[in-house]
Amino acid sequence: MSLINLDLATRGMDSSARWKILKRHVFSFLRHMTLKKFVNFCHAEISRIMKKEALKSYPYILKIESTNICNLSCAYCYDGRRMSVPGERPYGRMSFDNFKKLIDEVGAYVFKINLYGFGEPLLFPETLEMIQYASKNNIGMSISSNLNFNDPDLPKRIVESGLEVLIFSCHGVTQESYSKFMVKGNMQTAMENVKKIVEERKRVGASTPFIDWQYCVTKFNEGEMGMATARAKELGVDQIRFLRPFIPHDAGEEWLADFFREGEPVGSQQHKPGCTWPYRSAYINYDGGLLPCCQDVRLLVNDFGNVFISGFMNVWNNENYRRSRRLIANPTDKNIACHTICSRCTTIGTANNKEINKRKITASSQLTKGNI
Ligand SMILES: C[S@@+](CC[C@H](N)C(=O)[O-])C[C@H]1O[C@@H](n2cnc3c(N)ncnc32)[C@H](O)[C@@H]1O
Ligand code: SF4
Ligand code: SF4
Repeated sequence: MSLINLDLATRGMDSSARWKILKRHVFSFLRHMTLKKFVNFCHAEISRIMKKEALKSYPYILKIESTNICNLSCAYCYDGRRMSVPGERPYGRMSFDNFKKLIDEVGAYVFKINLYGFGEPLLFPETLEMIQYASKNNIGMSISSNLNFNDPDLPKRIVESGLEVLIFSCHGVTQESYSKFMVKGNMQTAMENVKKIVEERKRVGASTPFIDWQYCVTKFNEGEMGMATARAKELGVDQIRFLRPFIPHDAGEEWLADFFREGEPVGSQQHKPGCTWPYRSAYINYDGGLLPCCQDVRLLVNDFGNVFISGFMNVWNNENYRRSRRLIANPTDKNIACHTICSRCTTIGTANNKEINKRKITASSQLTKGNI
């Protein structure tokens, strides 16, 4: 998501992958440009530069989690997909009607929607309806999927939906390495689906979806990277990206690929203090819970408000948002009473900033209590 925050969205990628992504986003922006979107975009950027707290502009990129339910149990996705405990978001899915309501409110300003979060978007048929609806409304739609489905019509429906980008999550090219990460997954099924999508795209003469194979590199699959590149070519996917996954510090050595350890080529970028998310983008959970970004979307207490209950613009400019923008604009000001997730985020200051560290420590001890 280069135009919204290249640092966060492409963390762990090498510079060539980052550049390709930037290019793709610029083209996508131009493709979906209207006068209304352009004016809104300028307003959003001016508001950000002027450090406004209440915005007249809308976000121009959205991340919408149509569901947080999944058919797999990847090793380091959501703690092995355990059941939620009180205080955490339960599993669920967004209805098409709620999605439509949201698009009807903000869609005219939005260039792009990433319709996935921490679940499998293709698990439910309404996701393709959502993609179709938003695409018809001139929004570039993107999903990430494990493609573990035995539905012969799925490839055709994906191409018909108007989906612009399909991120294909596939972390290995042998079933053995694949299922170390993608627990319960079937690599052959996923590959067959990709092959059929490419064939269908060709058959109808479509250029979309752009297929972007995302390969999280671990010790288990790093020896297969060459094979994966050859496989990507053979399948006809448009890009393969080797990504450094988020692996907890206490995970065994066997998860850490030598590929990244040698010279730390990626994933070690220093982030400039500051944050642009609350001006440009928003993360909407399936139940309407709104957050400025994808940091800890599981804890309900982190939601800034609910768009299905209050309407998007009311949450976008509520006290949580205004205080967070104020804090982001003045990260060292001790007098700002902000208790949102932004107050505990190192993105807005440096790790040496005592005030932020203090806020972080206080809040994380509160959260740990609520989080069991
Ligand atoms: C949480 S998944 C949701 C979408 C879909 N279920 C999928 O797997 O593509 C979103 C993205 O996170 C990636 N992912 C999962 N676990 C990860 C990890 N530990 N580190 C980095 N990326 C991860 C997946 O490959 C996928 O592209
Ligand atoms: S397929 Fe996606 S959502 Fe499901 S467990 Fe794996 S990474 Fe998480
Ligand atoms: S938590 Fe707030 S400050 Fe941190 S990245 Fe998200 S929006 Fe930005």
